Order: sequence, then C-alpha cells, then structure tokens
Amino acid sequence: MKILIENIKTIVGANPTPGKKLSGKEMSVLPCLDNAWISIADGLISGMGTMKEGMPEKAKFDKVINAEGRFVFPSWCDSHTHIVYAGSREGEFVNRIRGLSYEEIARRGGGILNSAERLNKTSEDELFDSAMRRLNEITKYGTGSVEIKSGYGLSVEGELKMLRVIKKLKQHSPLTIKANFLGAHAMPTIYKQSRQEYIDLIINEMLPIIAKEKLADYCDVFCDRGFYTVEETDAILQAGLKHGLQPKIHANELDYSGGIQVGVKNNALSVDHLEFTGDAEIECLLKSDTMPTLLPSTAFFLGLHYPPARKMIDAGLPIALATDYNPGSSPSGRMAFILSLACVKMKMLPEEAINAATVNSAYAMGVGNTHGTITIGKKASIFITQPIPSYSFIPYSFGSDLIETVIVEGKLMS
Ligand code: NIG
Ligand code: FE
Repeated sequence: MKILIENIKTIVGANPTPGKKLSGKEMSVLPCLDNAWISIADGLISGMGTMKEGMPEKAKFDKVINAEGRFVFPSWCDSHTHIVYAGSREGEFVNRIRGLSYEEIARRGGGILNSAERLNKTSEDELFDSAMRRLNEITKYGTGSVEIKSGYGLSVEGELKMLRVIKKLKQHSPLTIKANFLGAHAMPTIYKQSRQEYIDLIINEMLPIIAKEKLADYCDVFCDRGFYTVEETDAILQAGLKHGLQPKIHANELDYSGGIQVGVKNNALSVDHLEFTGDAEIECLLKSDTMPTLLPSTAFFLGLHYPPARKMIDAGLPIALATDYNPGSSPSGRMAFILSLACVKMKMLPEEAINAATVNSAYAMGVGNTHGTITIGKKASIFITQPIPSYSFIPYSFGSDLIETVIVEGKLMS
C-alpha cells in the first residue's frame, strides 16, 4: 500500500544518518522538518520533503492522510521487555505497599520465582495469546520494535517454551522483535545449594539447543546482589558468545554489582537498569560501544532511586530508554510515560528523551539501520499525534494518549 502523509506540522527525528548512536551533547539535537510530507511504499519510507518544495502527485497513492497540526514521530523502540509471562503479581505489589522490599519478596521465593512457577504451568498457546495482547497494546502506544526476554522458565523446557513463543510472535506480529535468552534471571530454588549445576545447565544444555534452533538473538544475565555474581555472569556471557549471542544484560539495579564492567568486558550491546552507576562505571562505559539503557519505570514502581542520567550524559555517554514491561517491577509498556519519567525524575531534556527512546534504543536492540529515525529507506514504522503544540507536549502530558494514527512497516494499524 502506498501512503502519502501531507501537511505535517513537524516531522520529529528526520535524521539522515542511520544506525548511529547519539552521545553526550549530541543527544540534545533533535532534527525536525516543519510543514512537511512523507511518502510510504513497500513498507519503507520512500520520500519526504517540505510542502513548499512540492509533493509527489496524490493520484499515485492508495491513501492520503492530512496531518495538519500533527507531529510525525519514528515509532518508539522498546529495547528491554519481559512481555511473555503468565498471571500477574499485584499481591506482591500490595506487600510492598505494606513494607516488604522487592529483594525480601525474592528471598521468600516470590518475585521472578513466582512468575516462573506460573509460567511452567501455562501452555505455549496461552502464553502466546497473552503476549500477543500485550504486543497489540504497545503497538497502540506507538512502539514499532521490541526486544523480548525469556527468563521466567528457569528450566530447560520452560526457557525453550518461552523462546518458542517469542519466535512465534516474530512470525505473527507486524512489529520487529528481537529475542533475548535470560536463563540466568534468578536461581531456581532447587539449585540454591548447587548454583554451578544450574549454570552448567544453561551453558551445556540450554545454549546449544537455542543456538541450533536459532531461538535467540542475544544473551542476558541478571548480574546483581542476590542474583548472579560477576564470575558467574562472565562464564555465561562467554558461553553465549561462543554460540554467536552478543550480551545485553541486567546490571547494577540493586548495587554496584560489577555488572557494567563485566558487560563491557564481553562487548555487551547494552547494559540495562544502572541505578547504581558511579564514576568508575561511567569511565568504563566511556571506553566502550555498549549502550547504557535506563528503565525509569522500574525505579518508579519499586521506589528505587533513579539512575544518574544527567551525570552520565554530561560525561559524554549515550543513553537509551526502555519500559522493562514485566509483571514484577514494571507492569506497563507505555513508552510515553517512560519519557515523562526521564524528564521529570532524571532531568533529561525532551530532545534527549526522544532520542533515547528512538535512535539510541534502536541501537540497543540492533535495529538502528532500519528503525529509530525518519529516514528514506528505513522501515515506515511511525506514529502521527493528535494536534499538539510542540514535541515537548508528549513528555509534558504524562498519562495522556496523544497518538492518533499508527503505521507499522507501511501498514495502517489504527
Ligand atoms: O528487569 N531485574 C530483573 N528482572 C526484571 C524483573 C522481573 C520480575 O520481577 O519479574 C527487571 O526488573
Ligand atoms: Fe528487565
């Protein structure tokens, strides 16, 4: 289908350099094109320009959309989610309100282990249906590409089941999806006294099957206090690399865990969470190509302190933003709220937050060449807002749904 969008008030992220990440001061530069048009053909952005310079002939298009007063954005790239899960955990939410901490709940066998127990009792079809519903939900919120992790199986069958569900989602959803193997998300209770046995299972049984069946694009470990140590993380990441899986890991959410350093050492595409980031971690990241990815809705929902985004950007680092959509620490996949939190709680400028949720989060999930900016030749995954006064209105109007039209790879979704 050929689509022409005319009279666009502003195209946001009209950036001609595909795949590049934005660091430090570059993050506050948001290329825009005012009073403009975009043409779409074969799922790709085929042209764009200003109304003044003139548009292609309307008769050549199957659909013409008048976007007067409206902004066009590149779809959000949500580079960190756990949207394949069974059940929900609002009981733990209430326990936290009553005073228990996330770590205490985990120590008592709740948290990730609670989700793992439910997931292992749930069929592949049910998991697929509920995850598909969540994908449809985030599509409406403007997300066009999403990374999904395993990690609620914590057994050979459970992890493979999750990854097969993700593979099926890739086949059935119009969104671009990347799969991340997170067998090392928590230590299953039966291995608490014999940790190495479970790690051997990940390395010697899960990874070879995953590689053979091409079930994952990346390899993850929750490297943090009470979860996996630096040495354990290093061993798992190296085993993943031997199977061609680049690391993309959870690090420094609960402590200065060494997770950032071990991620960088293993050339991680991204290290995510980073509530505990000090000078040593910033120095280490500055010497790397690893994308620091912040998940402020987790800090919001768990009542943690926020990562030092301002300090990181001012030191010259890039930042990506993602939702961490999962049943325990962030049961929401609304990227616009992440932008509001980034601005309000982490003092990121709207330009920095938008770049972090598009260009840099595309980089953080390996889709920078096709997503993250409005560039001729890239996928036509975009959204059109309601009439709004400026792009800063998006993070400013927290909680409001301002998206009117969603297009994913050239397909009109709403
Ligand atoms: O990213 N931090 C580790 N894993 C998830 C939480 C998963 C859960 O609580 O179910 C996260 O926050
Ligand atoms: Fe996570």
